[in-house]
Amino acid sequence: MAKLIDGKALAEKIQGQLAHKVAELKAEHGIVPGLVVILVGDNSASQVYVRNKERSALAAGFKSETVRLSDSTSEEELLNIIEHYNQDSAFHGILVQLPLPAHINDKRILLAIDPKKDVDGFHPMNTGHLWNGRPQMVPCTPAGIMEMLHEYEVDLEGKHAVIIGRSNIVGKPMAQLLLDKNATVTLTHSRTRSLPEVAKQGDVLIVAIGQGHFVTKEFVKEGAVVIDVGMNRDEDGKLIGDVKFDEVEPIASLITPVPGGVGPMTITMLMEQTYQAALRSVTKYDY
Ligand code: GUN
Repeated sequence: MAKLIDGKALAEKIQGQLAHKVAELKAEHGIVPGLVVILVGDNSASQVYVRNKERSALAAGFKSETVRLSDSTSEEELLNIIEHYNQDSAFHGILVQLPLPAHINDKRILLAIDPKKDVDGFHPMNTGHLWNGRPQMVPCTPAGIMEMLHEYEVDLEGKHAVIIGRSNIVGKPMAQLLLDKNATVTLTHSRTRSLPEVAKQGDVLIVAIGQGHFVTKEFVKEGAVVIDVGMNRDEDGKLIGDVKFDEVEPIASLITPVPGGVGPMTITMLMEQTYQAALRSVTKYDY
């Protein structure tokens, strides 16, 4: 039987430490971290995520602003809003919630965010820093997973880590962070041949494929550490992960639940990264 990785408890612990750091920053430098979240359109999942980010920012003692824009907002309008926040020193973090409506070129939008305020870590400059082995702003979900592996003392040195899913948000940055810890990394995806056999080689298995209950016991090595990034709804509207938890849990040594695993850590790392951006704005930082 696996031990549960309690993402909720770890998130609360980090948020408690963050509250102290935010108070210190205010006392020493007179600044409050500021986060603006920009949402275009009415995607229902995005609305929930954005509301949670707003709530967490306020709970962390940040200045928080949410810009809600209609589906018909043009790319130029959105670029103008980003430029406004790039120039506004009260905001240290700018997050544009994805996905954007189809008429907006998301690459152009992400490129417009000041890399120093890119708390999502999606700007090509931050992607480059990450691949150079000098991470600055790191995508929040992989950053949260690294925190969990550290907290639960998972030794990555020389271990085989298999990632399922190659997105820019999770899979690709995750690979680099694991490489930094000297893991041997296999980055798999929906077209990988014999995926269960490949996944079964993983001492650590990270699943971010976006399909409910995709990973069954056939994918999992005895004693593996299993991290489930999935957030899917089943026919009854219940939140389920990408991993068939009941089947995999008896085989794994450590496993994240859904909910209460990766989700709370993602949002916590967003807050941590906004704080770091605020701190860098008042301290000399050598890139
Ligand atoms: N949509 C789904 N995940 C994310 C994320 O981490 N950041 C942003 N900006 N949009 C998302």
